[in-house]
Amino acid sequence: MLKKIKNYDYVHTTDFDFKALCKLLSQENYDLAVEKIKALAKEIQVKNLALDKSSYTRNVIIHNNDCWLGLLHWDKGATTRIHGHPEQAFLYVVEGELRCKNFDKNPLTELKSKGLSGGEYLYSKGVKGKLDNCIHQINAKQKSISLHYYSDNPIKGEVFDI
Ligand SMILES: [Fe+2]
Repeated sequence: MLKKIKNYDYVHTTDFDFKALCKLLSQENYDLAVEKIKALAKEIQVKNLALDKSSYTRNVIIHNNDCWLGLLHWDKGATTRIHGHPEQAFLYVVEGELRCKNFDKNPLTELKSKGLSGGEYLYSKGVKGKLDNCIHQINAKQKSISLHYYSDNPIKGEVFDI
């Protein structure tokens, strides 16, 4: 039985400009975006993030037509389904360690996997309007926090496992 991933509204206590960050990410200005995220990472308090045992929660910062920005809080061992993404996807590990397994589709084949620790990030650009770009599965090697940006609602991302 698959556990439903819960969404929460993220409450941030300083006046960090999340809209400006969304804009930088949408423009693929990753160097500058990461500089800002590094400053933000110091302000994020774990007590403001919901935790769901053996799973992960989405703590939503911005959600509109062309930007989804949020913090994911991972319990150790939490694993996503195998899923695709909208045109743009960006992930920054604030703390902890995540492992990303990449997949090819038709037929679904496992490709290489990559570990990401605090301060490391990845991004992908696929086909606009599609939700099956950059298919992967993420597993939390330890309790972790990551910042995610998508150019569309990630919940719509196509799921590939059975
Ligand atoms: Fe993903």
